[in-house]
Amino acid sequence: MEKIVVLDFGSQYSHLICRRIREFSVYAELVPYDISPEELQKMNPKGIIFSGGPSSVYNEDAPKPDEELFNFDLPLLGICYGHQLIVNKFGGKVKRANKEYGSSLLSMDKNSGLLDGIGESIRAWMSHGDEAEEIPSNFEVIGHTENSHAAAIANIDRTVFGIQFHPEVVHTERGTDILKNFVLNVCKAKQEWTMEGFVEKTVKEISEIEGNVLCGVSGGIDSTVAALLIHKAIGDRQTGVFVDNGLLRLDESKEIEDMFKNNFSLNFHRVDSSEQFLSKLKGITDPEQKRKIVGEEFIRVFTEFAKQKGPFKWLAQGTLYPDVIESGVSKGPAAVIKSHHNVGGLPEWLNLKILEPLRELYKDEVRDVARILGVPEKLLKRHPFPGPGLSVRIMGEITPSKLAICRKASKIVEEELWDAGVYDKVWQAYAAVGDDKAVGVVGDERKYGRIVTVRVVDSIDAMTADWTRLPNGVLEKISNRITNEIDEVTWVSYVISSKPPATIEPQ
Ligand code: XMP
Repeated sequence: MEKIVVLDFGSQYSHLICRRIREFSVYAELVPYDISPEELQKMNPKGIIFSGGPSSVYNEDAPKPDEELFNFDLPLLGICYGHQLIVNKFGGKVKRANKEYGSSLLSMDKNSGLLDGIGESIRAWMSHGDEAEEIPSNFEVIGHTENSHAAAIANIDRTVFGIQFHPEVVHTERGTDILKNFVLNVCKAKQEWTMEGFVEKTVKEISEIEGNVLCGVSGGIDSTVAALLIHKAIGDRQTGVFVDNGLLRLDESKEIEDMFKNNFSLNFHRVDSSEQFLSKLKGITDPEQKRKIVGEEFIRVFTEFAKQKGPFKWLAQGTLYPDVIESGVSKGPAAVIKSHHNVGGLPEWLNLKILEPLRELYKDEVRDVARILGVPEKLLKRHPFPGPGLSVRIMGEITPSKLAICRKASKIVEEELWDAGVYDKVWQAYAAVGDDKAVGVVGDERKYGRIVTVRVVDSIDAMTADWTRLPNGVLEKISNRITNEIDEVTWVSYVISSKPPATIEPQ
């Protein structure tokens, strides 16, 4: 498949470049900035993009690509820090400038193939500290802003371009069209990336592996799709294992078992390990420690299962691309935000190879794959649920009483959203509980009870999220039901923080 390779210099937006390109059906892959020329050659890309990044090209430890890459006879686009790398490499001058964040008016100066058809000017998103002071010879300015006289430059003959702004973020007007100009018109890449193509290619690849596969299924869309893809490739050589870790939602364990047994023909086993998980989590209050423990226990359960029912050679998981990026085990230098249990910290004693057929996909791409594989609509509508389950929604120690409150309150939130017709319009909705208490009054009695926190968010891919402006009537009903139906609760709060700076889950 024809592809564009994006070198990751550490910008939080790097993955968005790939995402935008894939949206117009060209495969784009993010690779570390220090990829070797041989490896890059093997990927046989139609063009290369240098992402942005937090460094300055003059820093001693500034990430730099292999010099050989500049000699490749391929179109090259540098974005922000990537732009400065190009200016620096081809003999121009980069200088420290006043930091510029936010939207600037970019005026076009010359047709070059990159900004053609975009209009005379657009609002472009800037986020940089350095800027091009002198451009290299053989380059010309193709666009400028008030603060940056060389905000877009090109060596048209060599098809090398540099832009100071970020076309990948939605705040840049016509940003996707600029990427389209580069990918389709300059690189002449074919639009071959479709989910049908992905299914075909992945099934073929998996059908070539040797040995049996143990697939962790959680009942969520990601692991279900992973299991169905693998089933399509190798049938009964795969066994799906669903672990009840004691951190599931109300009635979830039974519902998932029923769903698998009634809808799909793959080998399915449910393992009840709730006591094992909850005893390991006893007394633990630190969020990252909880995640690590849950992750390790999952692997322990799978390894034990494999010993008993094996031999298995592979452990399959429904890991997605955003999980990989946020865990900092992506190929580039993006910072670790949370260690997602299904990616980080696999212990050395694990002697199963890891199979992650969805690790290149975004959530909406997985939904498309699910439809192709005939996954029931009801499952498609289910909200994502974190691998570590309710352990990340219970602040402080996980106790049976907090678990029960969290379960009942979350059920109420879900029911009321369905009732109001908004459940499938929001990204996630749940209740969390911690150790905070507040005074209430019941009848004539003072009651010192728990505070339940309700969180409902809108999002497209979980990388960013906004809190949902639920109608007051819905909020009121949720609050009344939680305090009336759950004895220990006196207060209900609603989260009005977006991601960033918050995250979707509280821990
Ligand atoms: P945050 O809280 O990081 O969550 O904004 C982003 C999305 O990821 C889900 N999430 C997880 N999913 N394993 C998972 O499979 C995890 O460890 C994990 N932690 C968070 C979260 O529910 C949201 O959809």
